Amino acid sequence: MTSSKGLKGNYCLIRRAVLLLVATLPGTVDAQSADQVRSVQNIFAPVGAPAELLNQTALLVLLICLGIFLVVGGLLLYAVLRYRQKTTDDDTTEPPQVYGSTAIELAWTVPPILIVVVLALATARTVGEIQNPKFAADPLQVRIVGHRFWWEVRYPKYNIVTANEIHVPVSYLSAPRPIELTLASADVAHGFWVPELNGKEWVVPDRENKWWIQPSSLGIYLGNCTVLCGYQHANMLIRVVVEAPEDFDAWVARQQQPPKPDPGTEEGQKAFAANSCGSCHTIEGTTSNGIFGPNLTHFMDRKTLGSGVAPNDDANLKAWLRDPQQLKPGCLMPDMKLDPTQVQKIMAYLKTLN
Ligand code: CUA
Repeated sequence: MTSSKGLKGNYCLIRRAVLLLVATLPGTVDAQSADQVRSVQNIFAPVGAPAELLNQTALLVLLICLGIFLVVGGLLLYAVLRYRQKTTDDDTTEPPQVYGSTAIELAWTVPPILIVVVLALATARTVGEIQNPKFAADPLQVRIVGHRFWWEVRYPKYNIVTANEIHVPVSYLSAPRPIELTLASADVAHGFWVPELNGKEWVVPDRENKWWIQPSSLGIYLGNCTVLCGYQHANMLIRVVVEAPEDFDAWVARQQQPPKPDPGTEEGQKAFAANSCGSCHTIEGTTSNGIFGPNLTHFMDRKTLGSGVAPNDDANLKAWLRDPQQLKPGCLMPDMKLDPTQVQKIMAYLKTLN
């Protein structure tokens, strides 16, 4: 009698735990605008086709495992409670021993095999759908090159080169806009991961890996380099800006314009060239054509500095120009030992690069 009462209490607890778990699993956040930064990365809040496929498979695996846990744990609990030693027990004889029961052997062999087959088939299907996607429309091609410690971003069709902030159009159900990423590395192995948009993919030298995203909700999604690539691995951040199609088109049009030469910043331009900034950075329409560092043609379009290490504002830009090693120790941009006047001039120039 007492044992069945105890079981009821346990079921209540388990039921509450399951409800709590289910309530916290699927993400319910929905972006309202393209400016909203999804600052909490959550693999259970997928946005777009590949991440949703991964999430469904993960939930299926978790639910099956939860079922197994409940059955095994329940039986164990039942046995512990039902057959525990009671004070009234004085029977010390051995319980009946069961050997070679075909029914029991089958019961603990066949269902586990079936479960493993189901898990394997479901996983293989998801892997296939992600590795060999059937795009619902012609995908936008974006080439992403990992560098220590930043991301080069190229749009071959539009002849655009930028860095660290990847602008893409949103996918509506009626108008899917898949984006195919070609991942390459300029130096060591990196990893590309934006948890809401897809799983992780390797970014390695001498090989191009294809990856894809199809974000279905506006917002700014944050991602990380997933492979330890050096001192500033942790500050090799990714921002995917998912915009309405017309906003994306406007962004493309702005990026395709060369920056307007501003007569007031000639001294800054000269200081930029004189301090050999241009041997690492490109600014379209000038003699600066380096490719070792990020392209700065539309520098002010970016919201962050140093691949997401700090917001792109006056104070940080000044600190960055004075000594990048302060903001991002170990980054490959050296301290150029600029004096305050040079910093002011170069800063004024960079701020015109819209
Ligand atoms: Cu690049 Cu870690």
